[in-house]
Amino acid sequence: MQNPWWQTGIIYEIYPRSFQDSDGDGVGDLTGIISRLDYLHWLGVDAVWIGPIYPSPMADFGYDVAEYTGVDPLFGTLETFDRLLAEAHARGIRVILDLVPNHTSDRHPWFLQSRRSREDPKRGWYVWRDPAPDGGPPNNWLSSFGGPAWSFDEPTGQYYLHSFLPEQPDLNWRHPEMWPQMERVMRFWLDRGVDGFRVDVVWHLVKDARLRDNPRNPDYRPRRDPPNEALVPAFSADQPEVQEIVARMRRTTDEYPGRVLIGEAYLPFGRLVRYYGVASPGMHLPLNFHLITSPWEAVEVESTVAEYEGTLPPDAWPNWVLGNHDRSRVASRVGAGQARVAAMLLLTLRGTPVLYYGDEIGMPDAEIPPERMRDPRGKRIPGSSRDPARAPMRWDGSPGAGFTTGDPWLPAGGVPAGYSVEAQRDDPGSVLTLYRHLVRLRRAEPALHRGPYTPVPAAGENTLGYVREWQDRRFLVALNFGEGAARFRPERGTVQGRVVLSTRLDREGEAVDGGLELRGDEGVVVLLS
Ligand code: NOJ
Ligand code: MG
Repeated sequence: MQNPWWQTGIIYEIYPRSFQDSDGDGVGDLTGIISRLDYLHWLGVDAVWIGPIYPSPMADFGYDVAEYTGVDPLFGTLETFDRLLAEAHARGIRVILDLVPNHTSDRHPWFLQSRRSREDPKRGWYVWRDPAPDGGPPNNWLSSFGGPAWSFDEPTGQYYLHSFLPEQPDLNWRHPEMWPQMERVMRFWLDRGVDGFRVDVVWHLVKDARLRDNPRNPDYRPRRDPPNEALVPAFSADQPEVQEIVARMRRTTDEYPGRVLIGEAYLPFGRLVRYYGVASPGMHLPLNFHLITSPWEAVEVESTVAEYEGTLPPDAWPNWVLGNHDRSRVASRVGAGQARVAAMLLLTLRGTPVLYYGDEIGMPDAEIPPERMRDPRGKRIPGSSRDPARAPMRWDGSPGAGFTTGDPWLPAGGVPAGYSVEAQRDDPGSVLTLYRHLVRLRRAEPALHRGPYTPVPAAGENTLGYVREWQDRRFLVALNFGEGAARFRPERGTVQGRVVLSTRLDREGEAVDGGLELRGDEGVVVLLS
């Protein structure tokens, strides 16, 4: 049995504004991405997922779509996109687009029409409601970007729902016209040859039919948690009816061989895995963000993996994500030393790894002076800016970082020297070299890209161990989550074999006979004998 590419392969997320600028306007673009395809090929990734590139007023940097079947001039044209697709495919790299079905821009022609009058045929395409008796919003729902999830529309005297910015009105997925519209959008891109979609906030699509108030969150920590977490989104997200939409998306995708459906959902495992499909197939890969959200301790990560492995339905294929454009970068969350351990974990676990651009050079969050903040979320909720994780890719040490010849939309500096592709490319001990070795090892060894995962319980210390195997090749991965040296001591048996990779890149070939000593922040892969 051959595994499909999206199971054995590695996916790389590109935030298009920040990857490579080609025209000096300080914003990344499609021609820029094309010019870096050779780099991605050299790195060894199998697919890129590119954030939204559609025409947009950019209130949420493209997650506010004004036209689903075009390309914003900032990024290029449909012709540039076709060229990107052809050039990527010529290098064996698949292209996954971001599909944003939960909301449009408030400038989308659908919404402009919908807000014209209560009688407009498109009124029902969005979620409009009369004010509450006191004139306030129809219910207590909160926007993920701060404030109520409702905005009042003076001329028609009703509120409309927006789970994110007021400039991002939510579509009404209970309306019969919604699916045919989105199906048309999917086919437009699938016919062009895209290899799949990452579906934005898929768990948000359907809302409670009666729009009941959300209950209070008893665990809410004011000032520490984002304001919308004061309520449990019991009625505004993850409704059972969403599964029918997911199933339709899957059926359409399946009409095109070899395409993949990836869904964004921040949910506990028990609820997340329902997005693989309940009564019929759903997403191929509902994204698993639990390495981002769980504390960075060996016991915590071990139980996260165990819970996930134990919750996955029989034919469901796992996936792991270490970073994305919404969260602090892994190097800043866990530190530079542990970022190497994290890389080894991501690329040796069972399931499709999703890399975030720049993490392969260990880029930390960038320091963004307050006056240069661009993220609308950061502007509305103090301390929540996503800009630090979205800074331009550092290709070299020049002022524009090799990203642009112009003035970058977010500062390209503010990252210590050495964190660039140029500085790390030929350095045998760099993070980038580690990523390349991990990618190569994963590709070469079926044990790592398709074999089962078996935990290896070890005593004491802050270490995590597991075996990946395929036929007669068995690999032990042993990771030290601490800064100090530690001995990896399996509860049963000893370790016999040969080191094939260390996060420090200096122990390859070393024989292991019984005990396995790990330096601080070190992980190793041992081929067991
Ligand atoms: C999730 C995306 O990842 C995020 O960047 C965006 O702001 C929201 N969805 C709204 O579309
Ligand atoms: Mg540009």
